[in-house]
Amino acid sequence: MYSANSLMLPVYLRKPHTRTRKICGQATHDDCHIHIVDKLGVHYVRKTLVRSGDREIAVYKHLLHYQFEDHYPGIQHFIYTWSTGYWKHNGAQYLELPYFLPVGDELRKEQGSCLQGMSLSLCDQLLTAVNFLHSVVKVAHMDIKPDNLVLDAGETLKVIDFNLSIMDATCDVPPGRCGTKGYMAPEVEGPGLYSPVLADLYSCGICMDDFLDMDQRTETKLGED
Ligand SMILES: Nc1ncnc2c1ncn2[C@@H]1O[C@H](COP(=O)(O)OP(=O)(O)O)[C@@H](O)[C@H]1O
Ligand SMILES: [Mg+2]
Repeated sequence: MYSANSLMLPVYLRKPHTRTRKICGQATHDDCHIHIVDKLGVHYVRKTLVRSGDREIAVYKHLLHYQFEDHYPGIQHFIYTWSTGYWKHNGAQYLELPYFLPVGDELRKEQGSCLQGMSLSLCDQLLTAVNFLHSVVKVAHMDIKPDNLVLDAGETLKVIDFNLSIMDATCDVPPGRCGTKGYMAPEVEGPGLYSPVLADLYSCGICMDDFLDMDQRTETKLGED
């Protein structure tokens, strides 16, 4: 379980990355803005969508079809409490999600991460989520990385940020779509057609390496004591 304090930390107040390791490089797109909103003590993330928002909303709408189906355990790895609408002042479309624990921020902590000891569960949950996305929803995420994962209060890993998703994961696609350096499969940058499913699996592999690395650091520290 994680503490209430870690839940309340506004995104814009987070410390810059301190590790030299690759965890969570910046995505190569910049068309969204994130705000934390407090509604009667419950925190939500409000993401203003400018360019690729329609794609992200389309994926959330797609996921809604499966949310009540017990035989799709993979659906639990997505957030389906969301809303769309328009800002009063600038007319932009936005997406609103419950605020959960950002996995990328936890992994960057040198010590005291709430995720310690959870690496195998995180690996398992990530693969279940991505497999569900590919095989049932037929969507490839295309930007799998710790910064696009959050953990709910029941320690269920959730995948977020479908800005770059490909709606038909079964077809090979031409290069040109940009994910995040360090997590992106080499074939995404060209020159030939590539499988978005395999590209996602490559990114999952890097994330799993990050998860295992976190536990290894903890074990090394304990061994030193
Ligand atoms: N539901 C959420 N709970 C907690 N943090 C979130 C949530 N949604 C987004 N964030 C934080 O905001 C960051 C940016 O959100 P994201 O949807 O990934 O937008 P972008 O397209 O700009 O990457 C995430 O990396 C995460 O740290
Ligand atoms: Mg993101």
